This record gives sequence, structure tokens and C-alpha cells, in this order.
Amino acid sequence: MNSINHVAIIMDGNGRWGLKRNKSRNFGHRAGLVTVENIIKHTIKKKIKYLTLFAFSTENWKRPKKEIKFLFSLLEEFIIKKLDVFQKEDIKLKIIGSKIKLKKIESILNKAQKKTNNNKRLQINLALNYGSKNEIIDSVKKLIKNKEIINIKNIDKNLYTKFIPKPDILIRTGNTHRVSNFLLWQIAYTEIYFEKKLWPDFKVKDYDRIINDFKNVKRNYGNI
Ligand code: IPE
Ligand code: IPE
Ligand code: MG
Repeated sequence: MNSINHVAIIMDGNGRWGLKRNKSRNFGHRAGLVTVENIIKHTIKKKIKYLTLFAFSTENWKRPKKEIKFLFSLLEEFIIKKLDVFQKEDIKLKIIGSKIKLKKIESILNKAQKKTNNNKRLQINLALNYGSKNEIIDSVKKLIKNKEIINIKNIDKNLYTKFIPKPDILIRTGNTHRVSNFLLWQIAYTEIYFEKKLWPDFKVKDYDRIINDFKNVKRNYGNI
């Protein structure tokens, strides 16, 4: 039976969820936070050590200013509200992504990371202003600059995810079958689950179904 060390999630479908209820896209984003809380709790219960959540991509800056502003205020509110809980629950928060353009919330992000840095039960990697292609390019550039060999091990060590094991499971909700520039390098041998449900409708029982399915997957890694 496969053990699970790391689950990564593309939390998609908030906007459509809000609109479907004749409310705003932002209403859907707020509803999505409830799912985030439930999934974190269940990840702890299942003794999974790493949870990576895609919260904002480098491409999401194309969205209307009003939505971007709302997303970042929601994020700030969430982190401030949850910091004590993270501490109590022994959860470490790590931000992955480019720091450029995150100046306004940088101090709160730094504070949360510093405060939770020694926590051990679960590490949450929050992908913020994250784009996988640039992450890979930056890693290779660094190797060239330092005159190091370009190989898998060295590319790995300059990614935001260094020290983090590769995801075992990638879940994308929202009935869309693509990876949208998320962890392209890291998911080479990850099991991918595309879920029809929109993120606010994704429940612990859906998560459990995936976890249970994964346990019996035969992972070949090229072998037979
Ligand atoms: C959430 O879902 C993803 C974020 C960028 C926060 P969306 O906002 O993409 O929702 P849909 O796909 O438009 O429904
Ligand atoms: C991916 O969702 C990004 C996040 C979940 C943060 P998008 O909704 O931005 O992806 P595309 O644009 O439909 O591919
Ligand atoms: Mg979307």
C-alpha cells in the first residue's frame, strides 16, 4: 500500500461557484476558505506531512483589479486569523512563489513563516504568485551563474520546493483538465486527480475517496 507524504491541490472553481448562486465571484472565494480549513484538518488527521495549495498564479494578475484586491485581502485576513491555530496545531506555513509584487503583504507573510518555522506536524506550502516555468528557469540560471552542472539534482536544489518531497497526489477541482503552470517539474511521477466538483463543494469525503484510491495505485516509475 502506498503511503502519502505530500498532497498538492489546485483549488479551482470558486468564481463559478459564486456566480452559480447568483452571487459574486468573490462570494465564491470566501466560500472556498471553508473548504481550505476542512482539508487542512483532514490532512492532519490522515498524518500527511505536506500540503501544497495553489492560491494565486503568476498568470492570475490578468484578472480584474477588484478581484485581485479581494483575493489578497482574504488571504491576509486568513493568515492573521489562523496564525494562533497554526501554532497550536503545530503547523508550519511556507510561502512558495516569487516575492516580487507581494510587497504589500510581505511583512505578514514573513511574520507567519517565522512564527511557525519550527512546527512539525504538517507543513502547508502556500503557492502565491507562483509560476512553475519561471521557477525552473531561475534554478537553471543560478546553476549557470555558479558554474554548476545542470542535472536533475542541481535543478531540484534551487526550486522553491527544495527540502520538500515530490507530491504523491495532485488534485484539481473545478472540472478543468490542465495543470496551469503548477509544479510542472515536481509532478513528473505524481498521481493526478481531476475532480468535477467546484472547490467550495469539495468535501472531506471526496478527499478521502482520492486518498483511498491512491493507496492501491501501482507506481511504476518506468519499471514494470
Ligand atoms: C480559484 O478559482 C482559483 C484562484 C485563482 C483563487 P477561480 O477563481 O479560478 O474560479 P473559476 O475557475 O473562475 O470558477
Ligand atoms: C489555477 O486556476 C490557479 C489557482 C488555482 C490559483 P486558474 O483558474 O487561474 O487556471 P486557468 O486560468 O483556468 O488555467
Ligand atoms: Mg479557475
